Amino acid sequence: MCGIVGFAGDQNAAPILLEGLKLLEYRGYDSAGIAVMNEGKIALTKSQGKIANLCEKTQDGTTMPGFIGIGHTRWATHGAPNDTNAHPHLSNDGKFAVVHNGIIENYMALREELTAKGFVFKSETDTEVIVNLLELYYKGNLKAAVMKTAARLEGSYALGVACADFPDRLFAVREASPLIIGVGVGENHFASDVTAIISHTRNVIYLEDGEFAELTADNVTVYDCMGNAIEPQVTRISWDIEAAEKGGYEHFMLKEIMEQPRAIKATIEPRVKDGRIVLDDFDMTEEQFKNINKILITACGSSYYVACAAKYMIEQLCRIPVTTELASELRYCDPIIDERTLLIVLSQSGETADTIAALKECKARGARTLAIVNVVGSTIAKLADNVLYTWAGPEIAVATTKAYTTQMAVMFMFALYAADKLGKLDNAEYDRLVCELLLLPGVVQRAIDLSSDIPELAKKYYKTRSLFFIGRNVDYAICLEGSLKMKEISYIHSEAYAAGELKHGPIALVDDKTLLIAAACYENLFEKTLSNIKEVKARGAEVLGIALEGNRAMSAEADEVLYVPRTEPMFNAIAEIIPMQLLSYYVAKENGCDIDKPKNLAKSVTVE
Ligand code: G6P
Repeated sequence: MCGIVGFAGDQNAAPILLEGLKLLEYRGYDSAGIAVMNEGKIALTKSQGKIANLCEKTQDGTTMPGFIGIGHTRWATHGAPNDTNAHPHLSNDGKFAVVHNGIIENYMALREELTAKGFVFKSETDTEVIVNLLELYYKGNLKAAVMKTAARLEGSYALGVACADFPDRLFAVREASPLIIGVGVGENHFASDVTAIISHTRNVIYLEDGEFAELTADNVTVYDCMGNAIEPQVTRISWDIEAAEKGGYEHFMLKEIMEQPRAIKATIEPRVKDGRIVLDDFDMTEEQFKNINKILITACGSSYYVACAAKYMIEQLCRIPVTTELASELRYCDPIIDERTLLIVLSQSGETADTIAALKECKARGARTLAIVNVVGSTIAKLADNVLYTWAGPEIAVATTKAYTTQMAVMFMFALYAADKLGKLDNAEYDRLVCELLLLPGVVQRAIDLSSDIPELAKKYYKTRSLFFIGRNVDYAICLEGSLKMKEISYIHSEAYAAGELKHGPIALVDDKTLLIAAACYENLFEKTLSNIKEVKARGAEVLGIALEGNRAMSAEADEVLYVPRTEPMFNAIAEIIPMQLLSYYVAKENGCDIDKPKNLAKSVTVE
């Protein structure tokens, strides 16, 4: 949510800042701006809309000479997305420029205080108080002004600060919003995430909350919140820029859907050694496992829907009660948690504000915590007692696909691992399930191959204005994600319902204009869902069924059918989502939607 970049080096900053902002555009894209230091002054250009507008306005940065600068791509929180509210913001005296990601919770009080002192505010943003506090506290010592300003701020922020009096340096400050420093040769960078700087350097410092950094072209100094210089840990990033490029696909989303077999393989295979699941990063002993009497899984968005599906499998294999709770709810519901609770937190970005807050809340109540995260070094990865990474690689499209399925793969592994520790599986069954697990990349590839009719189907359905997804148990959990995908990228109103609940209300909306997508990939529940299909068919609805390969009964009832490969039923979920992802993609494409950057959304939601 909002992306920030900064560059200090020996070449023009503006083109590098614009390039970084393009790579961060998934974080927000309603307006953007850059500020560049030139001849002792700060030059500023801002533009409503996507980065392309800013590129046009600055002729790809060529109209803004200068070697040091900061940039921002915005996802509006305070004030409409327009040029005035776009970052960077300048102080009243024009000496300071600031870019900000996060929310300053006490900005109203600060604004009143500064207004009383004669400061004038031009924008509606919370950020403008920061830049004017810098002016207020600046007495010739920039570092001191940065520290005094940070001490007044409540909330979350990653800040980039430029000051005209110090044209060779930038400050970057972190509190509860992601911020990394890229350490180069003769140039240094900061950014909201690694994607923005990976083409310049692979050496990265992950700032901790309360830390700040001073960057010149040749030097990076990291300070703790008291202003003491500290020795930062420099991490080497192993993936390269190709992983964050489209590689010939029209959209990142399609590329990432197609990458799923590889991502799942990368997530599973290294963790199976001599036929056994080895979770190196998870050090719970058998005794500690047996002491657990409840598992609570929390997350937001698609990650939460992984939790909904995983619940069934963990309970089936481990016979431990599993509850799922949305992170935004969990943090305020006074949860019943103690040392015997295992909290599992799922997050692609590792930076989702509500998930972080829920994790902190449960930790404080004594829960043991395990995070399943895609972004190495992210806040959630650092906060949890243990972390298992999904090796999906960078995911750029706002609507998640490969992060979702790799999270699912990790949950499968966790369930098997836990069931084994708890003595719930005999050796033969354990071995069989591990073999099935290793087959999953191929199963997902088969699911992609079976989806070749979807571009045509999308032509039939793209004008639908309202649709339902129905299913039971895991089918229902997958429908939640399928329905979210559809509304996120195609803007078609879509709801997922537990199939049995349809007759308790939603069926009132069903008529001959309704499209109903019915997932029925579990044979024990197939007949039940089929009855629900008949109920809506009787009311004129069009039905698209999703069933296991070879199932004939579905084609007898549904108007159209998409097939999913047969696998160990417990692992069906991972293949079942594939046709739903592809259908959403092609329906959105038929509707001419901006698939990788859907309106109003952001990939990393770092505000509450
Ligand atoms: C946003 C994204 C979703 C994602 C959710 C949770 O809403 O658009 O795709 O599922 O945040 O994000 P996380 O990074 O915690 O998985």
